Amino acid sequence: MDIPRKCLFSPILALILLSFIVLVVLRPVQLLKFTTIAGPKRGHSVSLDHLRMKLSGENQLHAVVNSGEFRRNKFSDDRAATRKVGKLEQTLAAARASMRKAASESEGERSNHTVATTVHDGGDRHYVPAGAIYRNARLFHRSYLEMEKIFKVYVYPDGELPIAHDGPCKDIYSIEGRFLHEMEHGPGRFRTNDPNAAHVYFLPFSVTWMVKYLYTPLSYNVTPLKQFVSDYVRLISMRHPFWNTTHGADHFMLSCHDWAPHASQGNSFLYNTSIRVMCNANTSEGFNPRKDVSLPEIHLYGGEVSPKLLSPPSNNTPRRYLAFFSGGLHGPIRPSLLHHWKNHDADIRVYEYLPKDLDYYSFMLNSKFCLCPSGHEVASPRIVEAIYAECVPVILSKYYVLPFSDVLQWKAFSVQVDVSDIPRLKEILSAISEDEYWKLKEGVKAVRKHFTLNRPAKRFDVFHMILHSIWLRRLNIQLR
Ligand SMILES: *[C@@H]1O[C@H](CO)[C@@H](O)[C@H](O)[C@H]1NC(C)=O
Ligand SMILES: *[C@@H]1O[C@H](CO)[C@@H](O)[C@H](O)[C@H]1NC(C)=O
Ligand SMILES: *[C@@H]1O[C@H](CO)[C@@H](O)[C@H](O)[C@H]1NC(C)=O
Ligand SMILES: *[C@@H]1O[C@H](CO)[C@@H](O)[C@H](O)[C@H]1NC(C)=O
Repeated sequence: MDIPRKCLFSPILALILLSFIVLVVLRPVQLLKFTTIAGPKRGHSVSLDHLRMKLSGENQLHAVVNSGEFRRNKFSDDRAATRKVGKLEQTLAAARASMRKAASESEGERSNHTVATTVHDGGDRHYVPAGAIYRNARLFHRSYLEMEKIFKVYVYPDGELPIAHDGPCKDIYSIEGRFLHEMEHGPGRFRTNDPNAAHVYFLPFSVTWMVKYLYTPLSYNVTPLKQFVSDYVRLISMRHPFWNTTHGADHFMLSCHDWAPHASQGNSFLYNTSIRVMCNANTSEGFNPRKDVSLPEIHLYGGEVSPKLLSPPSNNTPRRYLAFFSGGLHGPIRPSLLHHWKNHDADIRVYEYLPKDLDYYSFMLNSKFCLCPSGHEVASPRIVEAIYAECVPVILSKYYVLPFSDVLQWKAFSVQVDVSDIPRLKEILSAISEDEYWKLKEGVKAVRKHFTLNRPAKRFDVFHMILHSIWLRRLNIQLR
């Protein structure tokens, strides 16, 4: 398991950490067991029978425009619940109607020309999604504009540093901290301080920091993580009415840590009902694409993307290698890849650990295809690195739901190879015509903006794509 090694320490942060450590020593683990809350109030609790979830198809963008396929979340009528929900639901209904209109318009359009090729990218303000990288560009665009118009997130103020309200901004799980910081400290276009005006509620804790501060190394005991999550949910469900109202269906957590699914087991509604935004999007381990969101893993070594990756060579510069991979021999897929291709072929450069004199990014920039096999868990930071390097990603995974796949047409900018076809990798990649390769590469260039981290976030970048995935899932729940 990778744990971020280097982190920027400001003196203030160090002080906070120190006092935290003292606290932990005195009262280990049970950080969120607040005993000060006045005696139990009569909750608006609803039995499981009342929570009907008629799940729609896997693509949540298309589910929005197929009316009648909402993930229904019925709760018995209680006044707190119906207070504001009526108005919020009206605005969402209007957004759905507008999207349905866009969908029917794009039907007519698609029959005329199947592949739009021009991407009008006149800066972020006027970006209009178009082209083969989208499943339905017009529908996505409409959905995105509706999100900008109305979507509001409430971030729970509860919980203490460092596990709540902070997350890693470096290394492999950096997306966790970057999202959290943008949400809490960014310009805040999507954030509301009025919880009654919110469409979704964010539980701002970091599973990576739970592992860092609560987990005993090598114990393989994730109970403290589950305990934290359980306590946190109990806390917000006692202090605020919103959790009980929907059993968490309009609540979300976000984590890139491998153990996020384990931690989310701390509360069964969080696991089964809430929106879990996670890098570890393994459908075979309970990831449910109809309600959960696949989070891209972005490896920021020093807290930034390597400048080298961000300036890929021009199209006229030939790429020397057909394919490249370098990485540890872990997880279920890499053993096969390394077994078949390590030191086997001059065109397919497959290494376990790259010799010191060779440069990882130079290989990515010099290869036509970048192999992205799952490791310990399904997600790989190589996918985003390959996109930055304009190296066509080759996805080698099983049970993995790719990020933003409600919206993006992954086959327009990546190649998916079945794990059983690893022995035929060279044959498969060589069979991709030059013409086809250039189309894929253009797709990679076009999709890059959706995987770019900006500070502060910019329209259509990775922060907004994550938010849009959450927005779609919220649109597909109808509270009534
Ligand atoms: C929510 O439900 C729990 C358990 O059913 C209860 O303890 C809590 O007081 C309820 N919260 C509110 C705000 O009523
Ligand atoms: C598509 O073609 C039909 C029939 O030729 C035409 O009426 C319609 O306006 C076209 N739509 C677009 C968006 O070009
Ligand atoms: C999720 O729901 C299933 C079916 O109701 C249940 O068996 C399971 O224990 C729940 N998961 C968690 C983590 O509570
Ligand atoms: C996904 O989950 C399945 C079932 O637990 C497991 O066998 C597989 O190894 C997981 N995939 C990865 C890459 O961890």
